[in-house]
Amino acid sequence: MEEQIEKVLISEEELKKRVSQLGEEITKDYRGKDLLIIGIFKGAVPFLADLIRHIKIPLRYDFMAVSSYGSATRSSGAVRILKDLDTSVEDVHVLIVEDIVDTGLTLKYLKENLSRRHPQSLKVITLLDKPERREVDVQPDYNGFVIPNEFVVGYGLDFNEIFRNLPYIGILKPEAYEK
Ligand code: IMP
Ligand code: MG
Repeated sequence: MEEQIEKVLISEEELKKRVSQLGEEITKDYRGKDLLIIGIFKGAVPFLADLIRHIKIPLRYDFMAVSSYGSATRSSGAVRILKDLDTSVEDVHVLIVEDIVDTGLTLKYLKENLSRRHPQSLKVITLLDKPERREVDVQPDYNGFVIPNEFVVGYGLDFNEIFRNLPYIGILKPEAYEK
């Protein structure tokens, strides 16, 4: 697996440090508020698992699964809910946790969908942001790292479902997705 990585873009240490800072920020911003964290399957799982352990206030979490991609590396634009929440978001403070905001299509859909359910507030935290690729006007409220326009894997991010278990964010060798 690791022989298919061209280079490490964000190391395990950098991830740890930034995730703990983000946890502190969220702790401050949501103190005294009824916080519901919504993780987006599957990519956000490692980030969510690490992040919540740096948030020092009571919270609940739930998950949604959406499909957005026509192929492995290209967005089709169509978004569909594959698994919805078990919980109501009405009158609670919702924080969506994403792995990466790329074209922004997934996030725009999620924000519109969830805001129709009347949460008290709705914000977004993403581990990675690739602003060069944006096709719709949507911004995360909290962002771990702004990255260049490269296809990355690891720490939850996949190529054809593989590489999610790498402990760092890496750039794939082109051979890995050309074959
Ligand atoms: P968007 O709707 O184009 O913003 O894409 C959102 C989803 O595309 C993410 O949640 C990822 O699953 C996937 N994605 C976008 N860029 C990458 C990447 O560089 N590596 C792995 N998955 C990606
Ligand atoms: Mg994916």
